[in-house]
Amino acid sequence: MQKEKPKGEEIAIAILESMLMDSQGFVSGNELSTKIGVSRVAIWGTLKKLEENGFIFEAKKNKGYRLQKEPDTISSPLLKAYLAHNNTHIPLLVLDEIDSTNSEAQRRLSSSNEKALAVVALKQTMGRGRLGRKWHSSSLGNLYLSFAFKPTFGSDKLSTFTPHMAFAMCHMLNAKYDLPVFVKWPNDLVLNNKKLSGMLAEARIDIDHIYELIFGIGLNIIATRKWPNELKDRVIAMNQEKNLTVGINRIAADIISTGMDTFLSFAKKADMTENQALWDKYDFLKGKDIEVFEGQTQLKGQANGINSDGTLKLKLPNGTIKSLFANEVSLSGAVT
Ligand code: BTN
Repeated sequence: MQKEKPKGEEIAIAILESMLMDSQGFVSGNELSTKIGVSRVAIWGTLKKLEENGFIFEAKKNKGYRLQKEPDTISSPLLKAYLAHNNTHIPLLVLDEIDSTNSEAQRRLSSSNEKALAVVALKQTMGRGRLGRKWHSSSLGNLYLSFAFKPTFGSDKLSTFTPHMAFAMCHMLNAKYDLPVFVKWPNDLVLNNKKLSGMLAEARIDIDHIYELIFGIGLNIIATRKWPNELKDRVIAMNQEKNLTVGINRIAADIISTGMDTFLSFAKKADMTENQALWDKYDFLKGKDIEVFEGQTQLKGQANGINSDGTLKLKLPNGTIKSLFANEVSLSGAVT
């Protein structure tokens, strides 16, 4: 049977993937045309379209093309090319604007046969955070991403899943981007005592079954001047800590790959006690005096680490340790 010819975005992804694989060198139009299985005219036309969308290619006679500059905002074909480069396989939808990527990911997965998918939007009109808060989502330099999964693990594992994801993201940003990021339990990433990222896990469940598990991440990558006044001293973007030499699409792909890998290993063996060393290393609250509200009751104490089930250990003034579930408390006091 004849293989169907790739079209539109598929050609763009294949071209960009070839260029990422050979980032120093040039790829000739002939090579691309043979490899992808389309005419040289189609290759040339696709390169022109990418240029209209912020890409710059260097062209050299007898050598071919090289990716010289990536766009500063999320680009669907480039993000997908980076994911292919990372060997991460998940259906990904990139939208210009949506109410909330968490809502869209849930809507899409509930009406699909896929086991997992991801949604990224350049802007959200109703981005939401924990405890009914709004998530400011109008800046093109940030990542608004949601995973939707149909997990096989039971709803009793949900409270452990979130810290696994948060600490895995934190570790990746430390290891790959050399950023001193910490996790502020239950699911914030903190850089220089300011909020870098927030995560929101939502699920449609019954007593022992999860229909859809949605995991949303907002990550500030490139600083914006549009943060509202009440936020600007409390939030930070990756490029405010150090000059980023890689673009937003590669960072977004690394976040998606980390999320997918973490979900798969968690689903395989929901007990990942070996990861607890990371929890200790990146626990922002550990040893700090904190205040929490359990319903209307205010508790003061010292954060004393995280249990293997994802609960926070609070050392009360009388020395006893209380374990707190994330969905039952709100934090305030001497933290960001
Ligand atoms: C928080 O810190 O309270 C969690 C914020 C989560 C924000 C992300 S942005 C992508 C996804 N879509 C949403 O509506 N929220 C999450």
